Amino acid sequence: MPETFPETTLRSERLTLRPFSALDIPGVQVGCSDTATQRWLPLARPYTRDNATTWCTVTAHALRESGDGIHFAVTGHPSARLVANVGLRHTDWDTLTTEIGYWVSPGARGDGIAAEAVRRVAEWLFTERSFERLELRAAEGNTASRRVAVKAGMTQEGVLRSAGVTHGGRVNLVLFACLPDETVPGDDVGRRM
Ligand SMILES: CC(C)(COP(=O)(O)OP(=O)(O)OC[C@H]1O[C@@H](n2cnc3c(N)ncnc32)[C@H](O)[C@@H]1OP(=O)(O)O)[C@@H](O)C(=O)NCCC(=O)NCCS
Repeated sequence: MPETFPETTLRSERLTLRPFSALDIPGVQVGCSDTATQRWLPLARPYTRDNATTWCTVTAHALRESGDGIHFAVTGHPSARLVANVGLRHTDWDTLTTEIGYWVSPGARGDGIAAEAVRRVAEWLFTERSFERLELRAAEGNTASRRVAVKAGMTQEGVLRSAGVTHGGRVNLVLFACLPDETVPGDDVGRRM
């Protein structure tokens, strides 16, 4: 049996992070079809309702069960409406290192949701799962994602040349990482409220 993250629900000041369900299919289709999401993430194009159904009901759960990571549907609370997807992948259980990724629904951007969700997952990972390192790889041109990493307390460590693939071609990836105690829960320096 592979090591895995347990099925988990987390809460932060404004957000609930919970497992995906069929309720999230329309929100996933909208989020993954959006122009900015499609620019930076190598998702199916077009991203159909079938793609969203498979993600919400099969793939997100299978990835957790395989030990690769864990994927959270993010909503406001008490609302059930999906505002983001944040997930961990490429988990290395020997070095206790994993990599975070995310997208935010087009209508919910610019309000600090990604940074809040990253901080909450990092806090859980370091305090409750005893992880030692969290990484993020963002395309060099993806200013919003790089800003999220900084706001979440991550440190830029270098540039991985031609390491990413987008629909537009190969891109350099900026590597960010944080270690235990380097993120500050609730330290929402960049949030506009
Ligand atoms: C990247 C993304 C997740 C950010 O989500 P978000 O909840 O809007 O992020 P936040 O509100 O926490 O912060 C966004 C920051 O980027 C800045 N930003 C947004 N768009 C920008 C742009 N086009 N150019 C420069 N900065 C930009 C915002 O001003 C904000 O910084 P500030 O708080 O200092 O003003 C969202 O834009 C998205 O889903 N993009 C498409 C998918 C994607 O790129 N995923 C990441 C792959 S590594």
